[in-house]
Parts: sequence; structure tokens; C-alpha cells
Amino acid sequence: MSLLTIQDIINNTVEYKMKVPFYRPALPPYEKIEPEFRKAYDTGMLAPGEYTMRLKSALQDYLQVKHVIPFSNCSDGMMCLCGYIKSRSNKNQIIIPSFTFAATWQAVDWNGMTSVICDVDENGLLNPKEVANYLSEHSHEVAAILAVHMFGQPAYISELSELALKYNTLLIFDAAHGMGSRLDDKRLGNNGFAEVFSMGITKTLSCGEGGFITTADNQLAEAMEKASMHGHGPGGLDVELKSLNGRIQEINSIIAYHGLTYLDDVITERQHLAGNYRNALEEIAECEPCKSHLVPIIPRRFTRSSHKDYACFLKHCNSLDYTKTNGCSERDHLANFLEENGVAVKKYYYPDIANLSVLSRPQDCGGNTIIHSSSIGNKLADNCLSLPFFNGMTKEQQEHVIGVLSEWAKR
Ligand SMILES: Cc1ncc(COP(=O)(O)O)c(C=O)c1O
Repeated sequence: MSLLTIQDIINNTVEYKMKVPFYRPALPPYEKIEPEFRKAYDTGMLAPGEYTMRLKSALQDYLQVKHVIPFSNCSDGMMCLCGYIKSRSNKNQIIIPSFTFAATWQAVDWNGMTSVICDVDENGLLNPKEVANYLSEHSHEVAAILAVHMFGQPAYISELSELALKYNTLLIFDAAHGMGSRLDDKRLGNNGFAEVFSMGITKTLSCGEGGFITTADNQLAEAMEKASMHGHGPGGLDVELKSLNGRIQEINSIIAYHGLTYLDDVITERQHLAGNYRNALEEIAECEPCKSHLVPIIPRRFTRSSHKDYACFLKHCNSLDYTKTNGCSERDHLANFLEENGVAVKKYYYPDIANLSVLSRPQDCGGNTIIHSSSIGNKLADNCLSLPFFNGMTKEQQEHVIGVLSEWAKR
């Protein structure tokens, strides 16, 4: 295995050579943050301080939640949350979706717990039927269900809540993509035992690296404050619980705080861009001799998606089934064609969790992984393609992507 350097990453990132980049973060105007950057810099207060406290209370107001616990990122927050659940439970399994980013699985695995993969539906959301099916026989082993608001679509919250209640297990959410999403006009953040958000570089509210946990549970909130700081209580150095260095930095809190004041506009612009893509993809699917086409995710009724990504799946035009999965050849062909024409894309999320290479090396895993069901997740992974999508994307840039897609469809 050769070592990957930062220079290799730069050299291999097609993004740098692309006419249409995949993503650009929606950052607040520099004039807003500059005086506060300077103050943090001058005082040397880069660790969590007044600006992080300010962010915490702004997020509490925005999401209307009782507690917000800032973290260095969503992955660390989820690891601490799963660690807390493990420490209070005599059950060692957590149910996760078959189709998600690896961090969802890693949060469970780092705690030496068993991840149980249950399949998703055609939109990539953890399927309550699959969860019910597993719980009906194994509820005595399941400490929590960890659902994901995939690509910004709210998970099946009420169905999963009912199952959690029925089978006496916790419900938690990987809300990495959830900032700005709504269900029944309510913002996410108040569901289940806790939700964990990301403010990473590709997220709708981005500060580079950052995350936070939301919960109404006082004990959990207190524990997570400590867990994000090596498990130390105020002024102490003793380690009181399973923990890590999960501190957000003041500079990041400044960016996130100002970014939050623009978030609703950011989401409105994304909905407009999503509408353009949707219309164009429908037209492309109808033109002859289109053999296969990209089908976008359409937000469910009574939901507003943050459109964290513009995620699509490649399907046959006639049968509406997925394209050949053997080696994902057709999706890969399309991805190459787009990139050759200056359009950066991502295969969010390939491979599916059950096919992560690390699973074939149990010695590299912290816990076990049980595959209950994963066939739809596997098909989605083989056929997924996310198109360039970011605030400030120009009409010309979007038209270029659409033009390349039409050319591909007519080939
Ligand atoms: C579904 C999902 N969960 C968790 C994470 C991890 O978030 P972070 O980068 O803040 O650790 C990501 C990151 O993209 C994600 O896509």
C-alpha cells in the first residue's frame, strides 16, 4: 500500500481541472467574519469560546431544540453518541442503512458494536419494513436504529419512531445532510433521542469542518459536552466517559454562525437549481434514442429537502429498471463522459456499506457487521451519480451540464 500525500490528492482531484466544479461551499461574505477572525486571532482564543457559545444558542433558536452540542465534525459526534448508547445498554447492535456514507457505519464500528445493515428504499432511505423485519426477531439485541436523512430527504421518522417504541430501542439520526430540510414544515433536529449534523465543506451550512448533536435529553447533553473534550469535567483532567478530542474551533464557529443567517436563502436557491435539473432530465429522457437516463430523487410530499446533493440514479428508459450492474459499466461510462467534457461528478455512495473493502478484513474492524438485507442499496450504489450542484452555480454552468447529458443520451 503506497502512502497518499496531499499533493497526490490535489493532482488526482479532477475538480481542479473541470469547467463545472462539483461543489463550492456557500460561505458568508468575508466582511462579516473578518473583524471576528481578527479578534480571535489577536486574543489567541482559537479553542471553543464566546463564538462557539454564540453559535450554540443561534442553532438552538433556529432549530428550536433544547440542547445543541458542537463537535469538530459529525463523524466524531456520532462516535461519541454511539459510545454513550453502548455504555447505557446491555444490547450491542445498531441498525444502519445499506446505502450511506461510511461514517455512519464507522460510528458503530469504532465502538466495537455490531452494525446491522438493513436495506433502503429506491430513494436511499432506511426502509422501515426491513427494520421491522429484523426487529421482530432480534429486538433483544438492538440498542438503537441509526437512520440517515439521505441527500437531505427526511428519513421515515414517524414509522421508525413507532418501531423504536414498540421494540424498546433508541432512534437516532445521522443528520449530516439535514441542515435546512423540513418535515411537515418543521426543521429537523427534534427527532428521536438525538440527531447529529455536519457542517463539513460540502454541506448546506458549511464552515470547513464542524458538526453538532441536537437532543432534548439533559443527561445526554451533559455527557456529550464532556465527550467532545476528552471526557474532562470543567477544570479537570480526569476522563469521566468514553470520549475523544471533538472540539470545534472558534474560527469555524464564526463562519457557521454567519452562514446560518443565510441558510434559508441558500436552500431556496438550491430548490430553484434542482427544479432546472429536474425539467431538463425529464426532457432528455423523452428524446430518441435515449436508452438509459438519470432519474433524480423527487422530494416526498410534506417534506422539504435541503438538496445537499443533486443525486440521481441511472435507469433504463423503457423498463425503468436500473442499468446493468455488472462492474457498474454504464454509470461509470456516463461519469467518464461527463468528466471528459469538463463536468465534475461524484458517485455518492459507491460502494454500498455491505461492499466496503474493510469488511473483508475483520482484523481491521472494531466490531462485527451483520448484513440483514442490502440488495437495493447495492443497486443504488452501482447506479448513483451526483451532478454538480452548488450555490452560485451559473445558468451557463448548469446549461453546460445539461448539454453534455443530452449529447450522451443521443449517442
Ligand atoms: C451521510 C453522512 N454521514 C456522516 C458524514 C460525516 O460528516 P463529517 O464530515 O462532518 O464528519 C457525512 C459526510 O459527508 C455523510 O455524508
